[in-house]
Amino acid sequence: MALPPEQLPAHPTPLLTREAIAARVDELADQIRADYASTGDLHLVCVLKGAFVFFSDLVRRLDRPATLDFIVVSSYHKAKRSSGEVRLIKDLDTGIEGRDVIIVEDIVDTGLTLTYLLDMMRARRPKTLRTACLLSKPSRREVDVPVEYVGFTIADRFVIGYGLDYAEAYRNLPYIGVLDSDT
Ligand code: IMP
Repeated sequence: MALPPEQLPAHPTPLLTREAIAARVDELADQIRADYASTGDLHLVCVLKGAFVFFSDLVRRLDRPATLDFIVVSSYHKAKRSSGEVRLIKDLDTGIEGRDVIIVEDIVDTGLTLTYLLDMMRARRPKTLRTACLLSKPSRREVDVPVEYVGFTIADRFVIGYGLDYAEAYRNLPYIGVLDSDT
């Protein structure tokens, strides 16, 4: 049963420390830089709100030219599980046809959100389209979705912090913590 915001723990149990996250984000940035070394174009799309911290750390560590855009989708609606419904709240500002695009997401759970985004963006005919996700929960997958850059594979726990929320709480927590199933 969900607790009211004032009863949520102030310091949830850490799953991934800020140091562990920073080290892994560095590795992902190195990998992306190497993979796109021969292309001048690199267009990164942040999926808001959850990916905002990961995105800002990742793009600053890329150490190469890139352009950025932001898209807002809603898939959770204050519940701890995906509703299976994805709503587009704000579309991209610029076209992606013929461009090298990476979608940057916070977490792949059922895979429905990323599948929705990939289908939508593929229809706009980018030159290449890949995905980078800080976290992946493979045991929860309902649709098989390709993720080229995965930060951490985690078990089926509800995680918060570093951009991820529970009912809009915890996005500014500097590490990734676990919210117990009875909260
Ligand atoms: P999917 O569509 O089921 O893959 O869910 C993707 C979205 O659900 C993510 O972008 C998150 O916003 C949210 N989500 C999934 N698992 C968690 C979690 O453990 N904590 C917080 N948000 C989550």
